[in-house]
Amino acid sequence: MSVTEAILRLKAGDTVAIPTETVYGLAADIKQISALKKIFSTKERPFFDPLIVHVDSIEKAKKLVTHWSHVHEALAQKCWPGPLTLIAPKADVIDPIITSGLTDVALRCPNHPLSLNILKQFEGLAAPSANKFGKTSPTRAEHVRSEFSDEVYVVDGGECEVGIESTVVAVTELENRVALKIYRPGFYSAADLEKILSNAGIEAQVSYAESPVAPGHLKHHYMPRIPVVVGHKISMAEILKISEGELTQVFTRPIELSLGSDPQMAAREFYQKLRLLSHEHDVIVVLTQDHHHAEEWLGIMNRLTKAASVKR
Ligand code: TXA
Ligand code: MG
Repeated sequence: MSVTEAILRLKAGDTVAIPTETVYGLAADIKQISALKKIFSTKERPFFDPLIVHVDSIEKAKKLVTHWSHVHEALAQKCWPGPLTLIAPKADVIDPIITSGLTDVALRCPNHPLSLNILKQFEGLAAPSANKFGKTSPTRAEHVRSEFSDEVYVVDGGECEVGIESTVVAVTELENRVALKIYRPGFYSAADLEKILSNAGIEAQVSYAESPVAPGHLKHHYMPRIPVVVGHKISMAEILKISEGELTQVFTRPIELSLGSDPQMAAREFYQKLRLLSHEHDVIVVLTQDHHHAEEWLGIMNRLTKAASVKR
């Protein structure tokens, strides 16, 4: 589907899947409640899971919030368009259905030329990943089509470069002390954000914290059709045996998914590999190595852990 057609459909209150640099998103106009409701029904997503609002500029983001601090500004200036989602107090134009009733809204400017063109025509588009709730996120147009068949229109923007969802960050300022909380790890690590802020003359404490809202606190997410089992310092035979016991299943077509040694490459390929392997095998085994437990792997390890049925 073309950008022009996508804009028409979105204006008419439909949902459309759009490409971003992280994963494909299922978009709807933030001004149309019935379109927003369609996101939840199509994805079978519970209403307690808030949506990220996408904009094409910092100026538009500012119109959707009541407070945009110098910290938000510094991060957005450096990272937008890009895989960073910033949380700020919502303005009245943001319907509570978007934030699941929270007083804060999550905002992001995606780095994809087609989506930026579409976003020009809107105050904002709400867009969660374009997959059924809890399932593997799509990194190609064909993934969206296979998940929803003809139910969803897709703008094909090629393969997503980053491959896992944006880093979600909340900013707090207490008596001139700035603290960032990373609710969902992604392309930007705590060290990256600390450095970006420090270069802007802002000293900030950055930590990882489970999101107070779903799906951060949901144990299972991003799951493919077959079980994923994860082991560290354990053999393939051992982890399979444990998994067969725990899942009361006998596996006859196991396959090992290797994460490799380059975290950016691993992120780009992760969801695609989960999808591909689940067609021809009955269990995916990931054996992690020590280097996979370093900070730059946190985004992938977070997705892997939530996709896993067994972990040792
Ligand atoms: O990369 C991405 O962020 C992709 C693409 C499509 O932009 N979008 C995405 O959306 O991952 P979704 O709906 O799958 O993830 C949204 C998550 C929520 O589940 C929650 O963890 C967090 O973002 N979130 C959204 N609004 C929030 C809020 N007001 N406060 C705290 N966390 C929020
Ligand atoms: Mg998602």
